[in-house]
Amino acid sequence: MKKVIKNIVLLAMVVVFTSCSDKRTRSVQYMPDMYVPVSYETYGENAMYENGMASRIPAEGTLARGAEFPYDYENTQEGYELAKANLKNPLDSLIDPKRGKALYGIYCTSCHGDKGAGQGELVKREKFLGVPNYKDRDLTDGNIYHVIMYGKNLMGSHSSQLTEEERWQIVAHVHELRNN
Ligand code: HEC
Repeated sequence: MKKVIKNIVLLAMVVVFTSCSDKRTRSVQYMPDMYVPVSYETYGENAMYENGMASRIPAEGTLARGAEFPYDYENTQEGYELAKANLKNPLDSLIDPKRGKALYGIYCTSCHGDKGAGQGELVKREKFLGVPNYKDRDLTDGNIYHVIMYGKNLMGSHSSQLTEEERWQIVAHVHELRNN
């Protein structure tokens, strides 16, 4: 008998709890802090930290999500030689010849020409001189990338116009032009 009463009470409790819940209002929350966290303004105050600031300086050696890896080679002759010897195109199977060609067409053709022979429109109009034929130079992945990053003599840097991935697509296209 006791068991029956116990079951009835249990059932009644379940009915009471479930039937009272209104889908549109929030029901009882255990550990509300987990669901409704206290948020801080980025540059607001926070007594938790020694300097009283909510914003944190990122841990050393970390990169923000989506940020590019820093380019470690310096803009010197030595940096150029080091990049030329060591840096390799990381894209491998992700090389997309169509994209490389299109990007090259936007950023490089004006001086270097479609075929990379150094006869772009700006050269024909004598706005730029000394643009080489790629085939006449000994070029490696690293050295092409380095020149895109920093420029060289009359050629300006293109680092701010291109993402890391785009630069490497172009590097692959320059090789393509050299080999054909
Ligand atoms: C405004 C004209 C101009 C544009 C645009 C330009 N270049 Fe150049 N580029 C030059 C000139 C001039 C040189 C010769 C630099 C030298 O060796 O004195 C050169 C040299 C090079 C070299 C040879 C570097 C070496 O180590 O000998 C490469 C590779 C190159 N450019 C790639 C590119 C790529 C890739 C782009 C597009 C992202 C590009 N250039 C855009 C003018 C340009």
